[in-house]
Amino acid sequence: MEKTFIMIKPDGVQRNLIGDIISRFENKGLKLVHAELKQVTKQLAEEHYEEHQDKPFFNELVSFITSGPVFAMVWEGENAIAISRKMMGATNPEDSQPGTIRGDYGLTVGKNIIHGSDSEESAKREIGLFVNADSFNDYEKEV
Ligand code: CMP
Repeated sequence: MEKTFIMIKPDGVQRNLIGDIISRFENKGLKLVHAELKQVTKQLAEEHYEEHQDKPFFNELVSFITSGPVFAMVWEGENAIAISRKMMGATNPEDSQPGTIRGDYGLTVGKNIIHGSDSEESAKREIGLFVNADSFNDYEKEV
């Protein structure tokens, strides 16, 4: 079954959006297999966002993601990666549709509430970076 890495960024945690976001994923039918409130180190942030290291906003991105705890999760389900990206909406809240997480709550591309893996390869990489292999919860879920 496909797994995806979803991270509520420091702005989402500060704005008390954890509960709402978890509810959206639960209501959709995805299965939560890992969740952790976590302070991201500079080293982890730089590794996580290494594909953006040459972008002009890289330092701002690293400094934002380390500015307070994130809520890191792994959700599992059929097509979990594509479905989660639809639920999050476009990266830039200017383009994200109402009804999506960023469309409903985000105002700027820097503080856009949530991150989600964009491919199977990045899901594997990001889960590997953030989650200890022994901290997955394997359980049966009906529906
Ligand atoms: P995310 O899905 O976490 O992946 C990379 C992040 O870079 C993206 O969400 C945005 O939050 C951030 N980002 C993209 N473009 C800009 C920008 N122009 N200025 C600041 N941050 C940006």
